[in-house]
Formats: sequence, C-alpha cells, structure tokens
Amino acid sequence: MAGKNVVVVAAALVAAGVWTLAAWAQAPLSYAKDVEPIFVKACANCHGGNSPKKGLDLSLGKGYADLTGRRSQESPTMDLVKPGDPAGSYLWLKLSHTALEGRGMPRTLFGAKKLPQAELDTVREWIIQGAKP
Ligand code: HEC
Repeated sequence: MAGKNVVVVAAALVAAGVWTLAAWAQAPLSYAKDVEPIFVKACANCHGGNSPKKGLDLSLGKGYADLTGRRSQESPTMDLVKPGDPAGSYLWLKLSHTALEGRGMPRTLFGAKKLPQAELDTVREWIIQGAKP
C-alpha cells in the first residue's frame, strides 16, 4: 500500500535528520583531548624517548607537531596527516594496515596488531574533521 510506504520513508528521513543533527552537535575532535591519549598509550614506547622510530615522536606534547605538516619518511609523496582526507594520510594507512611499506601500526614484537575499532574510528574522524590540535 503506497500510503504506508510514504510513512516508512518519511520516518527514515526523520531518523536520518536526527542522526545528522546529533553528529553536528558533537564537539569537534581534538588531538590533545581525543587522539593523544591513544597514541601515548599505544605508540610512545617506540615513538618516543631519545630516538623515536622514524623520527616520529608521539609522546605527550610532541605528537601533534610531528604528525601535522610533515611528509612520511617511508612514503615521501604522502603527508603523515592530510586534514580532511584519511586515505591521503600515511598515518591512516599505517593504522588501517594498508600501507605498502613496513608493517601496520602499532607494531608488536613479532608483527603488528590493530588498535581497537573505537580508537581507529576516533583517529579517522579526527582527520576527517580537519586534524585540529
Ligand atoms: C614496537 C614499536 C612500535 C610501536 C608500538 C609503534 N610503532 Fe610506528 N613504527 C615503528 C617502526 C620500527 C617503524 C618503521 C618501520 C615500519 O614501518 O614498520 C614505524 C613507522 C611508523 C610510521 C611511518 C612514519 C613515516 O614517516 O613514514 C607511522 C606513521 C607510525 N609508525 C605510527 C605509529 C602509531 C600511530 C603507533 C601507535 C598506534 C605506532 N606507530 C606504534 C615502531 C613502532
């Protein structure tokens, strides 16, 4: 029955609208608040100290400057972080284990693991929202 379909479609549109508003209402993600705690915990043991791997220091207070406005050493045609564009950000390729060079991040003793999905989503969304400090 056509009438019923119209109602269903209308309900779906309303739901989509509410969802979009909810996403807008969220405060934009920031490096210091949302991303840095993840990287300090999962990365700074290698990317920190006196000789951070690949010169990339992700320890507290250092990561933002090292990740933004810099090219990847492994893949020098790419930025580490390209605001708004995860696929164009070498950091994201490493985290999603799609980089062609080296291993996925975070590395482990014998290979690599992935960050938990919620943390991956946070990093990806942070890049999409413009990689704010
Ligand atoms: C066990 C040590 C270790 C851990 C933990 C680790 N990394 Fe790495 N990382 C390396 C090494 C070694 C390389 C270079 C070789 C490679 O890519 O496999 C590297 C390379 C990278 C690069 C490429 C840098 C460039 O300029 O091309 C990025 C980006 C990166 N890591 C990000 C991270 C992030 C983000 C985390 C945490 C989620 C992390 N790494 C955790 C050891 C580590």
